[in-house]
Amino acid sequence: MDLSTSYLGLPLAHPLIVGAGPLADELDMVRRLEDAGASMIVMRSLYEEEITGEQMDEFFNAETYSEAFAEAGSFSPEPDMALGPGEYLEHLRKIKGAVRIPVMASLNGVTPGGWVSFARQIEQAGADGLELHIYHAASDMTISAADVERQFVEIVTEVKRTIRIPVAVKMAPLFTAFAHFAKQLDTAGADGLVLFTRFSRADIDVKELEIVRSMTLSDSSDLLLRLRGAAAVSGRIKASIGITGGIHTGLDVIKATMSGAHATQMVSALLRHGPGHLRTVRAEIEAWMQEHEWPSLSEMRGT
Ligand SMILES: Cc1cc2nc3c(=O)[nH]c(=O)nc-3n(C[C@H](O)[C@H](O)[C@H](O)COP(=O)(O)O)c2cc1C
Repeated sequence: MDLSTSYLGLPLAHPLIVGAGPLADELDMVRRLEDAGASMIVMRSLYEEEITGEQMDEFFNAETYSEAFAEAGSFSPEPDMALGPGEYLEHLRKIKGAVRIPVMASLNGVTPGGWVSFARQIEQAGADGLELHIYHAASDMTISAADVERQFVEIVTEVKRTIRIPVAVKMAPLFTAFAHFAKQLDTAGADGLVLFTRFSRADIDVKELEIVRSMTLSDSSDLLLRLRGAAAVSGRIKASIGITGGIHTGLDVIKATMSGAHATQMVSALLRHGPGHLRTVRAEIEAWMQEHEWPSLSEMRGT
């Protein structure tokens, strides 16, 4: 049974990738993920300071996800490890020294300036690829959707001009004309599109007059929006398609592949069950393919 795939031009034994988040924070965990068969690891994002700093830190390091670790037995990474740029590069070098699978760094921001020079340093530190996590709150009344899209395309163009390692763009599902924008990113040279960012929820504590943020872990129902996004662009762009959000089981990976994904990222499922879940999902994919007589994922892709 052939599970091999090509993602961002990199040959991978199978599509199961560890997505951006806290799982790569500790070397011991990174080694365990490799041992459990991860085909690639994405580090948590380094945030562009001027715009987001604290906000984005809160956005992803929200309280509630850590509760899930109870189910994960011995697995308990430090949830709140925001790294400065120097530490980030140092940690990247250490991960590269610790494992043989490809390691991607991740940058989060909205303006070209800060990213471009740092992208170069990330390349020099040995990253096999870079995921650009583009995010825009879209609350500025003077900036149109076209302006936002133009800015992102500029960032991708600039970053691609600066570095040689593959660049994936992690997108939010909130673009007005998603397929059109995806095509523009593709034309700008993005090697992959990662669909879609999953947002934390913000509620209001009406007595304390405070915003209460929570980042709950996903389940397979989160996948459906991503399947739709992948299917909209599958076979129509050069860039690889990665799916992030709601990948928990072998069947989720099968569906993602049928909708066109070259790679599937997991975060919630691994936080919930620990690294060994990669083996379970892989076995589920193989069993399903055998039962339904699919010799390879590449024949299934985009069907
Ligand atoms: C605790 C936690 C931290 C995360 N940190 C990042 C991050 O730094 N950068 C990023 O692009 N996505 C981050 N994410 C989002 C994940 O990469 C992923 O896109 C999202 O959780 C959906 O995938 P899942 O359903 O497999 O969890 C984080 C998610 C969680 C749960």
